Amino acid sequence: MSRDVHNPLLFEIAWEVANKVGGIYTVIKSKAPVTVHEYGDNYTLIGPLNHRTAAAEVESEPITNSYIKEILDDMDRQGIKWMYGRWLIEGAPRVILLDTTSIIERLDAWKADLWNVAGIPSPPNDQETNDAVLFGYLVAWFLGDFVAREKSRAVIAHFHEWMSACAIPLMRKRRTDLTTIFTTHATLLGRYLCAGSTDFYNNISKFSVDEETGKRGIYHRYCIERAAAHCCDVFTTVSQITAYEAEHLLKRKPDGVLPNGLNVVKFSAVHEFQNLHARNKEKIHNFVRGHFYGHYDFDIENTLYFFTAGRYEFRNKGVDMFLESLGPCNSPVTVVAFIVMPAATQSYAVESLKGHAVTKQLQETVKEITDRIGQRIFDKAARYTGGDIGQAVIDPQELLTNEEKVLLKRRVIALKRSTLPAIVTHNMCDDSVDPILSQLRRLQLFNHPTDRVKVVFHPEFLNANNPLFGLDYEDFVRGCHLGVFPSYYEPWGYTPAECTVMGVPSITTNLSGFGCFIEEVVENSSDYGIYIIDRRMKGVEESIQQLVDCMLQFCQKSRRQRINQRNRTERLSDLLDWKLMGMEYVRARKLALHRAYPERFMGNDLGDFQQYKIKIPRPFSAPGSPRIKGSNSNGVDDLSEQMESLGFRIDDEEEYPYPTILKRSDSSRDLFEFS
Ligand code: UDP
Ligand code: G6P
Ligand code: GLC
Repeated sequence: MSRDVHNPLLFEIAWEVANKVGGIYTVIKSKAPVTVHEYGDNYTLIGPLNHRTAAAEVESEPITNSYIKEILDDMDRQGIKWMYGRWLIEGAPRVILLDTTSIIERLDAWKADLWNVAGIPSPPNDQETNDAVLFGYLVAWFLGDFVAREKSRAVIAHFHEWMSACAIPLMRKRRTDLTTIFTTHATLLGRYLCAGSTDFYNNISKFSVDEETGKRGIYHRYCIERAAAHCCDVFTTVSQITAYEAEHLLKRKPDGVLPNGLNVVKFSAVHEFQNLHARNKEKIHNFVRGHFYGHYDFDIENTLYFFTAGRYEFRNKGVDMFLESLGPCNSPVTVVAFIVMPAATQSYAVESLKGHAVTKQLQETVKEITDRIGQRIFDKAARYTGGDIGQAVIDPQELLTNEEKVLLKRRVIALKRSTLPAIVTHNMCDDSVDPILSQLRRLQLFNHPTDRVKVVFHPEFLNANNPLFGLDYEDFVRGCHLGVFPSYYEPWGYTPAECTVMGVPSITTNLSGFGCFIEEVVENSSDYGIYIIDRRMKGVEESIQQLVDCMLQFCQKSRRQRINQRNRTERLSDLLDWKLMGMEYVRARKLALHRAYPERFMGNDLGDFQQYKIKIPRPFSAPGSPRIKGSNSNGVDDLSEQMESLGFRIDDEEEYPYPTILKRSDSSRDLFEFS
């Protein structure tokens, strides 16, 4: 009996399902609402069971699908631990989490099998590979058993990144009756080569991949990645630049690009995001007052907050370039540059905690005293009996008592310090060799009173329980003025995309997937608050200079100009919404079904993945004197309308659950030129 390809079941498999590591978690989580909308209960995610975090991520619930229940019960009998339930995120998708540690005794047998059936070696002491093998075998087991039971409907299995993808070659060998998509979010070798000092993009076609992966001890991981890329029905990546890289390093040209979207939440009041900026900035002010205690001699209302954040990949994420550009950034206003990147630490630095404690004490004392002053004024005023016109209700000399003056003095003395404000908030395990600290020291960025640019390295991801900031990452971003992400290796790069949907301007590069995407679809993106540094055609010094210029240009803006720019940035968020981006996933799934079951689509040509061609023009309100919101009838308030009027056509052919989908037009432009 042939499977129904028009009503398929979808499994999405990733190591970051309900398990946060980096951007892939953001892909799966933010996409869940649109996929659930499209597939409902026919959608199930599969990830690893991480006992530390699972309880907070997933709520268990009874299994309703009888096939899934039979298989998981059977696995249970064989000693495999798993969790089934709803992921506690918007869309509440169903998830199966499989515990690789519960089946460790089969590792050697499965590794031997992997070698025998796929020729993939796996050395003994690589934990990541062991996890990938165990997870791959569990997934192949589950899906194999599933399609053996569910025979009437087509099944699509969509895998993300090599860690989840070992099941793909296995299922191909076993002829499991389903269709597979593999999306790679980077290539292993590309990431390693870029992190070193290789001139990656100019030599991309020349690397001897086996030798290079061998030298770096990742040959076996590479074998899994490459096997997945070759054995899947549809191979995709997240950007054109990574497609180009995959073609050369994995030796298969991707069938298409699935750019990453976000779950864009629109506030009912258009300017709510501006209010959120002001509220969260206030919290960052509090941090700054505490951190710079004793040296808090700058005007906080006239201070700009720049930041960079992400996994600690010094060169790949362009932290080296960011720091290098801070010295020459001779800003007219004070800039505090934050670097939020997790590294090994022992604890918070005592000086950091002390700064916040003494500042808090001062704040409390001032509040107590001002309350008492208020009471005193009230009493005097209430008892005021008139007298001569002009007689003061209270003598200003009486406002503060001697005791209060002494208390205030003591608090102020506690703020004195002989040291400069620290450049790092924690005690680092590798203080003397840490790349960020080493570079800050070399550049002598030490938070001197005369430095217009101050630096704070926070070697830990942010969350609301953090004693220094008390802010979740999202709120921190909202409170900042500019995100700086001058990446050298960045298949997509969620951090600037997230800034965009929050209405925070950012700097990215034309070596990041996101930067290239924006360059393709938006004309003069800097007017919209997305600055794209050229790291492709320019040398390092020139790129640094361009970065310095962008930052200086930003520092010269008035508050009104910053507010207007934030409005324009936020208007681009429709472009990054999964409601639009998700369309590429729909196409990939259709292509996968076509390839696996061609006889079911006779005479129906699917066509290839297509690219955006038409650009969104520069905003009418830019530059110089942007119009005030509401008065600009020609602006980009309604981006969809704008794009439609430019020739994008509403797609009414595709069966997509969202009404306003913009169809991409052909483009044969070669994106990949390097100097
Ligand atoms: N991120 C976070 N907390 C932080 C800094 C970053 O949760 O303090 C998240 C950020 O929101 C983003 C992800 O980490 O979604 C990084 O993804 P990106 O695609 O930029 O880089 P990757 O780590 O995948 O290379
Ligand atoms: C938002 C708020 C305004 C505030 C402004 C500060 O727009 O709604 O009330 O004045 O932020 O902007 P700035 O760029 O100086 O942080
Ligand atoms: C990878 C890439 C990052 C991308 C993310 C999600 O981890 O490093 O650039 O945004 O995957 O696709």
